[in-house]
Amino acid sequence: MDFDHDDTVIRRIHAFTDRVSMLKERDMYFYNQPIEEILGGAKVRVGGREMGMYASYSYLGLLGHPRINQAAKQAIDKFGTGTNGVRTLAGSLTIHEELEETISQFKHTEAAVTFTSGYVTNLTVISTLMGRGDYVLSDKLNHASIADGCLMSGAEFRRFKHNDMEDLDRRLEQLPGGVSKLVITDAVFSMDGDLIDLPRVAEICKKHGAYLMVDEAHSVGMLGKTGRGIEEHFGLENVIDIKMGTLSKTIPSVGGYIAGQKDLITYLRNASRAYLFSAAIPPAQVAAANESFKVILDEPWRIQKLRQNTDLFINGIKSAGFDTMRTTTAIVPILCGSDEQAFTMTRAAQRNDVFVLPVVSPAVPEGVARLRATITTAHEPDEIERAMDVLASAGKEIGIL
Ligand SMILES: Cc1ncc(COP(=O)(O)O)c(C=O)c1O
Repeated sequence: MDFDHDDTVIRRIHAFTDRVSMLKERDMYFYNQPIEEILGGAKVRVGGREMGMYASYSYLGLLGHPRINQAAKQAIDKFGTGTNGVRTLAGSLTIHEELEETISQFKHTEAAVTFTSGYVTNLTVISTLMGRGDYVLSDKLNHASIADGCLMSGAEFRRFKHNDMEDLDRRLEQLPGGVSKLVITDAVFSMDGDLIDLPRVAEICKKHGAYLMVDEAHSVGMLGKTGRGIEEHFGLENVIDIKMGTLSKTIPSVGGYIAGQKDLITYLRNASRAYLFSAAIPPAQVAAANESFKVILDEPWRIQKLRQNTDLFINGIKSAGFDTMRTTTAIVPILCGSDEQAFTMTRAAQRNDVFVLPVVSPAVPEGVARLRATITTAHEPDEIERAMDVLASAGKEIGIL
C-alpha cells in the first residue's frame, strides 16, 4: 500500500496510526501490553514488574485453576492440539458433545451449541435467525458483536434507549403486525456494569410476541446464587428464548455458546455459517471450559467472595469521591471525564503497579471516558485497599477528586 497516497482508506488508517503514535510519544498508550506471566492470585508481571490485575474478566479467579489446567492437558494428550476441521465434516469430538451437554444442564435448557468465539456467536446466530422483513431491537449499550450481528442479518435494526422499558414497549407497539421480532440485550453491560431489567423485558417480549435473546458474557458465574446467571439472579426460569454466553471470561477458555430449545439448537447447528464454515474449538479449550462449569458448581464460595470483594471496592471507591456510574457488579467504571484525564489516571495507576485500563471515545461517548476496573475472587481485601489508595492519590493529583 502506498501510504503517501491520499484517499479515504489511507486517511482512515492515518487517523488511527497518528493517534497511536501521539499517545506512545507521551507515554499514554496502554493497550496491547504483553503480560509476561500470570503470578497466581490476582497478580501479573508486566514490563518486568509485578502488578495487581484490575482488568481481568476471570471474575471467579478460575484462570490457572489446577483442575481446569489438568483437564486441558489430558485433552491434548488424547486429541492433540487442533481438530480435523469443521464440526459437520470431521471436526466434531466427543468432548464437544460433553461440553454442550454440560452447558445445557448448567443453563437449564434442552440443548446447547458452541462456536469458536463469543463475537462470532452473536454474528452468526442473529444473522441466521433473522433476515429481510424481520425486526431486531437492541439495547443502545449492547456489545459491538450484537450490533454487528443485527446489521449483518439484513433485518430492520432498531436501537432502544438503554434499559428503558417504556421505549422498548413503544417501539414494539409501532411495528407492523405479522412480522418476526427479536429483542436482544446484554445481561450485564460491559462498559457500565449495570444489569438489564430482565423481569420487565421478558414481560414486554411476551406481550408483543417477540423472541428474547440475552448475552450473558458477563453474567454467567457472576450472577445468581450458584452462578447460573441473570435468570437465577431474578428468580426467573426460562424466560429467555436464546441464552447466549462466552467461554472467554469467567470460563477461562475461548468460545461462545447458545443454549435453548432442541429445535433451535438443531437449526443453528445445521444452518449457521460460523458452524458450517469454520473449524471447531480446539480440544484443550473445550475440556477447560467443560471443567470450569463443574468447578463453579463445586466451589460456590467463589461467588460469595466475588460479591464481598465487589462491594468492598465499589463502596471504597465511591467514598473516596469517585463516580462509579450505575454499576452494581464487578465491572466498575471510574469516571474520569476527558480521554486525556482517563489516560493520565491510567498512567498514574500503572506506575504504582495497579494494572487498570482506560475506556475512551469512540468506545464510549466523549466526556465520559473512564477507567474500567474489574474485581475478581482472586483479589484479597488488603490488595483491593491498596489499589483504592493508589487510585485515590492519582485522582487527587489529576484533579478529578
Ligand atoms: C457482552 C459481550 N458479548 C460478546 C463478547 C465477545 O466475546 P468473546 O471475547 O468471547 O469473543 C464480549 C467480549 O468482550 C462481550 O463483552
